[in-house]
Amino acid sequence: MADPNLACLLVIFGASGDLTQRKLVPALFELFTAGLLPARLAVLGISRSPLGDDGFRERCKRGCAARRGYAEIEWLEFAQRLHYHAADASQTGDWPSIVEELQVLCQRYGTGGNTLFYLSVAPDLYEPIIANLGTAGLVKGDKSWCQAEGQGTPRQRIIVEKPFGADLPSAERLNRALGKVFDDDDVLRIDHYLGKETVQNLLVFRFANVLFEPLWNRQYVDNVQITAAETVGLESRAGYYDKSGALRDMIQSHLLQLMAVVAMEPPNSFRAADLRSEQRHLLEAIRPIAYEEVPAVAVRGQYGRGGELSAYAEEPGVPAGSSCETFAALKLAVDNWRWDGVPFFLRTGKRLRRKLTQFVINFKPAPHLFRNVDGGHLRPRHNQLVVNVQPDEGISLRFEGKVPGQGLRLKSALLDFDYQEQFQSVPFEAYAMLLLEAIAGDQSHFKDRHEVEAAWRIVMPVLDYWRDHPGAGLEIYGSGTWGPAAADTLIRPCGRWRNPESEASRAAGPRSGEAANPEAKA
Ligand code: BG6
Repeated sequence: MADPNLACLLVIFGASGDLTQRKLVPALFELFTAGLLPARLAVLGISRSPLGDDGFRERCKRGCAARRGYAEIEWLEFAQRLHYHAADASQTGDWPSIVEELQVLCQRYGTGGNTLFYLSVAPDLYEPIIANLGTAGLVKGDKSWCQAEGQGTPRQRIIVEKPFGADLPSAERLNRALGKVFDDDDVLRIDHYLGKETVQNLLVFRFANVLFEPLWNRQYVDNVQITAAETVGLESRAGYYDKSGALRDMIQSHLLQLMAVVAMEPPNSFRAADLRSEQRHLLEAIRPIAYEEVPAVAVRGQYGRGGELSAYAEEPGVPAGSSCETFAALKLAVDNWRWDGVPFFLRTGKRLRRKLTQFVINFKPAPHLFRNVDGGHLRPRHNQLVVNVQPDEGISLRFEGKVPGQGLRLKSALLDFDYQEQFQSVPFEAYAMLLLEAIAGDQSHFKDRHEVEAAWRIVMPVLDYWRDHPGAGLEIYGSGTWGPAAADTLIRPCGRWRNPESEASRAAGPRSGEAANPEAKA
């Protein structure tokens, strides 16, 4: 937990944008209402829009007022700490006024020059702003702009929002640009999925229990699925999304990192350096996809119409004939001792049936020992561990039991752990936890440069192939479905995707005799 004595000025570039209003300021407000926001923390929003402090506060209020338990009196107190300065931070000429504003707030709040910059601007502005931070002498040098006598050396850090590059070369270039101005220890590459309680809990689940880790390998695990499904569509983001697509937007940015958390080796400690180096090793162990094998291991789709909802192609701002994928699925292999031969399936999509992020560990089937009265085999379903990252945060373990009564009948049962019920609390917003850690300079749940680059390396052949074959294999799927049929074909040799509805219907009746078990491998 952050030290309440921490002092810091949070400077958000791109403060008039959506992220600030919908996520960042509401996350700070959440911390404030929970009594976790350090008393000497203030926010300076910077962007070009001509807003004053009041205009900025008014905009931010919308996102905060929508929160459960909102109280105006708390907002009024918190809002005093929000400040705004209209400037174009990508233009060198605007920097003298920015520095002046920083100095004023630094004095007023006694932050001792500790500053956390947040890049929440269009990605093409990242490098100019980083360079301007360097030129303005805010980060390296004598720090005379902020240092008061008797105070320790102030620390300047930077949070970089996604997208972190558009491909491997641009990500490497961005890392180099950051390296010219900041020490790597002061660069926080944010992935809000790493701030989700359930993702962090997975590490505790794996490494604080002796029960699962011995099974967590190729001897016992048949396959692993990671799903991040959304019901929302484009949400007026055509400008960004059409150039990005699901593979960059979700798989490179989030799902590969989730895979690293599921599959990494136990770290020596839970300190940032140890955690991040194990996650990096896992990402580096993912077998490179050969360009020619892309159609066999990668699926893409685009949402079509669904009832009243328009197709992606009809969304405002989408260029005619766009082959941007709103669904992507990958089959990956990991070349290490633990996971050799275990396929990992990743899928993500917009306008799918349900909002759902989950990990599914499918264990190998038990030997066929059971026979029914007719001598036929009873096939136990394989054990399955499901980690619901969101919503309905929790973990469930499926195992087989005997149905009471005469004769031998098997039925699957679930051991369920519900996060909210167990801990009687609603998890904090991911951004709240991450901001708190960033203020304290804790990098544990931020990616290092090697992880980002490794994730780009994995998806590059797919991006290249799809770029060279526009539209090839792009399946239009109905809004409200689970995506393209090709994604089912991709996973078929190992069974099927775990979709909540089909799971519920399958759990319904007891099985006797040679009941079909669609999930079991032949
Ligand atoms: C963002 C993506 O990083 O994550 C969005 O850019 C996506 O396209 C969002 O909708 C999903 O986040 P969450 O926390 O709602 O699962």
